[in-house]
Amino acid sequence: MDEKSLVETAIQMKDKAYAPYSNFHVGAALLGKDGKVYTGCNVENAAYGPSNCAERTAVFKAVSEGCREFEAIAIAGDADYCSPCGVCRQVLSEFCDKDFKVILTDCKGGIKTYTLGELLPLSFSL
Ligand code: THU
Repeated sequence: MDEKSLVETAIQMKDKAYAPYSNFHVGAALLGKDGKVYTGCNVENAAYGPSNCAERTAVFKAVSEGCREFEAIAIAGDADYCSPCGVCRQVLSEFCDKDFKVILTDCKGGIKTYTLGELLPLSFSL
């Protein structure tokens, strides 16, 4: 799937967000090296802590379906160029190398692309 379609999928996934507490909707589309796209949205919880971001939903869906290698993720949120939180960057770093592409959109046609290495330098790993 090309970059533009991955971004479109992330934007569509915002509609699936369960965000009654923040009212902030996020969608993600993660491209696996198997060629499949794994989608995600944020899923909130009344106790707040158990809430899950869109990016981690996508990663956990992919890994649970047997895909552990990824090319890129597109992320779309209610704010311009919604950028992944620190926890999601760390989760991505478990499975993705420094060149993994993180594509952000303003949902109005604008795209900014970063590498995971740029967003999480000196990441922790064992
Ligand atoms: N959120 C995401 O899903 N991804 C991000 O990159 C940033 C934040 C979610 C968490 C929470 O449900 C809501 O957005 C507000 O923080």
